[in-house]
Amino acid sequence: MREDWIQPILDEARSKGLERSALPYPEAGGKIKIDGKEVLNFSSNDYLDLAHHRHVMDCSREALDQYGIGSTASRLVTGTLPIHEELEERLAKKKGYEAALIFGSGYMANAGTIPLLAGRNDFIFADKLVHASMIDACKLSGAKLVRFAHNDVQSLETRLKQFPNTGNRKLIITESVFSMDGDIAPLAKIAALAEKYDSMLMVDEAHSTGTFGPHGAGLVRELGLEKSVTVSMGTMSKAMAGYGGFVACSKNLRTLLVQSARAFIYTTAPPPATIGAALGIMDVLESSPRLGAILQANADYFRSLLHAGDLNTLQSQSQIIPIVIGNNERAVAVSKTLRDQGIIATAIRPPTVPDGSARLRLSITLAHHIDDLDRAAEAIISVLNS
Ligand SMILES: Cc1ncc(COP(=O)(O)O)c(C=O)c1O
Repeated sequence: MREDWIQPILDEARSKGLERSALPYPEAGGKIKIDGKEVLNFSSNDYLDLAHHRHVMDCSREALDQYGIGSTASRLVTGTLPIHEELEERLAKKKGYEAALIFGSGYMANAGTIPLLAGRNDFIFADKLVHASMIDACKLSGAKLVRFAHNDVQSLETRLKQFPNTGNRKLIITESVFSMDGDIAPLAKIAALAEKYDSMLMVDEAHSTGTFGPHGAGLVRELGLEKSVTVSMGTMSKAMAGYGGFVACSKNLRTLLVQSARAFIYTTAPPPATIGAALGIMDVLESSPRLGAILQANADYFRSLLHAGDLNTLQSQSQIIPIVIGNNERAVAVSKTLRDQGIIATAIRPPTVPDGSARLRLSITLAHHIDDLDRAAEAIISVLNS
């Protein structure tokens, strides 16, 4: 068997403190029981605590009962069900766009969309910290990838000036809430630059969908930038608590994606139970418009506790709160100590974050009550300051 090249790679990762493993958890969500003991999970993306919401589970079950376990074909064959179309209409309306298109996951939404917006002779200007799914999509596109400094509009403008219009397409990509830093892109300024330099703009709203904006519509909508942002991408896997991805865009772009987006065409349509769940989430977001605001107020409170304990949370302004530790092994050791105290705060290491910036990435969810936040902050401060 010609697998002798694998062990050295694994050994090297281990020696750098970068070994990864997928540990099984007995439950999902922000507050879970492990061996009968209540544990606070600060590594769940179920920001609004909806993964076990009764109405959402009922909607998922109804879809399962009505349509069965699978869509049984790709969307362009016979996999499109009425609930796929209903969800797309509701997502488009929520996001303030003409149309929306669902993909199998957020990763696939990026992988399917970016290569259609820019191709071999085009330019993509990407924030230095955009998610791996966007970077992979850029590579897939064959476009020239130009990086600009994180959230730095001057750096973006410099790069845009370096590549004057020659009839090629330009695309700027960024996130509204950054997945590992929890900070917020200066979207209005980036949108103004996109207009000035005749560039398209795509914003990954994986972490602001559900958590910001009117009825959880996200930051693009909150800032009224729907007309300047060509594509607002989102996932159903974070605050929407389930699985799947989507883009909101113009009708024309949707039509083009349906014709040509490989990650849309060459894969089976998302299964009924996940679409049913997403429809249930849409109901909850409509009927409980303040969930995102409560979450952000709790995150503000938690940050203030950490700051009072002299901890630095970078520029976080959202439910995602990083505490940079730096050294990989120390980050893992801190995470383990906290886990022993009933607090899950997974260490995030390179290449997910830049070298030397291993961190605890804490996510606040509505499963965490104020006294949970007090307890967690006290434990984190004491472990990090010891
Ligand atoms: C910013 C960002 N974009 C895209 C994705 C991919 O979304 P999904 O988990 O639905 O594939 C993620 C999540 O991992 C993310 O954090």
